[in-house]
Amino acid sequence: MIVITGGAGFIGSNFVHHWLAERDEPLVVFDALTYAGNLENLAPVASDTRFSFVRGDITDREAVERLLNRVRPRAIVHFAAESHVDRSIRGPQAFLKTNVEGTFVLLEAVRVYRAQWAPSDRESFRFLHVSTDEVYGSLGPSDPPFSEATPFAPNSPYAASKAASDLWVRAYTHTYGLPTLICHCSNNYGPYQFPEKLIPLMIHHAIENRPLPLYGDGSQVRDWLHVEDHCRALLAILDRGRVGETYNIGGRNELTNREVVETVCRLLDRHRPRAHGSHVEGIAEVPDRPGHDWRYAIDTGKIERELGWVPRETFVSGIEKTLSWYLDHPDWVWNVTTGAYREWLDLHYGTGRSERPAQA
Ligand code: NAD
Ligand code: TYD
Repeated sequence: MIVITGGAGFIGSNFVHHWLAERDEPLVVFDALTYAGNLENLAPVASDTRFSFVRGDITDREAVERLLNRVRPRAIVHFAAESHVDRSIRGPQAFLKTNVEGTFVLLEAVRVYRAQWAPSDRESFRFLHVSTDEVYGSLGPSDPPFSEATPFAPNSPYAASKAASDLWVRAYTHTYGLPTLICHCSNNYGPYQFPEKLIPLMIHHAIENRPLPLYGDGSQVRDWLHVEDHCRALLAILDRGRVGETYNIGGRNELTNREVVETVCRLLDRHRPRAHGSHVEGIAEVPDRPGHDWRYAIDTGKIERELGWVPRETFVSGIEKTLSWYLDHPDWVWNVTTGAYREWLDLHYGTGRSERPAQA
């Protein structure tokens, strides 16, 4: 049995689907269901006997201990986090609380839980900590991509909180011998991503004929990885990763934000055309994000050499699939873009008004 923290969020829920498609072993999702957590993401597996859900907060030590003692997992895959950079700029404290303190609480609970085991079983336990490439800071145009040896230089409160949690995980391996693995992944996209992040936000806004807010001049570069490729990498790391090691995961898809948004617009021109002109005309440059990292890029040599993982999706194939998923799931989009979502749009972009789309 394994435990998935944050399994009702974007990557966590994709991982649950992937796991249940690949493995017989049962899993338990432990998730606080914040604005980013959504049980609808898990609806397709709700009746699967290998799946169960526990609502709980990773900062709640008693709840975490109860879970471990009841479920007795052999591994934890730790996704639970506050994950949106813009929210971390407006309200950093929640990031300190969940990402740093929450990870600490999990590590402490696991340390005590593992101490009850026979020494041989202790070694087979795994704590896979899902982190981000943003811990490495920002690259210039001709800098080499981030490798596992790149020093941490986090720039946003989100990145700082993830870097801090990574260091706590590292310390628990070195001090207490906890068998951990850490991975740093680039920007993910795919089904079930909350539309506060670039790609689903642009799809959702374009369909509703709302402006497409591009920060600054749109020249910032991100590496994009389809979420299924990330899930395959996580499975490989959990199965065969060397304890105490970190692995960088990337999609070999460096694109400017403008290129990403224009690609989404061109696809929508084919699948959901505007009455007049192209969706590209909806792109609106808005004030830049404070401290905006300019470029992220990943050297994936280590995971390729050691674990034989390579991404399967190109950006072209992945974005086609992703767009189709959002167009095929208007009810999911509608359900997550009410209430708290509108409040966020009001606060951040100055407009949260939304009409229910006709096809929903
Ligand atoms: P998400 O925001 O979509 O989901 C986070 C999930 O964690 C939600 O289900 C939420 O309810 C849950 N959660 C939040 N606080 C919690 C708490 N205190 N206790 C229990 N559950 C809590 O995030 P995501 O995009 O799926 O990211 C998952 C992980 O992957 C994060 O750790 C993030 O840092 C990392 N990551 C994300 C990306 C990306 O592009 N999205 C890239 C690299 C790494
Ligand atoms: P985001 O999806 O928030 O991921 P991250 O900040 O973790 O990379 O943003 C991806 C890029 O898109 C980032 O450079 C900021 C930019 N962006 C916009 O230009 N407009 C937007 O409305 C959003 C949400 C992001």
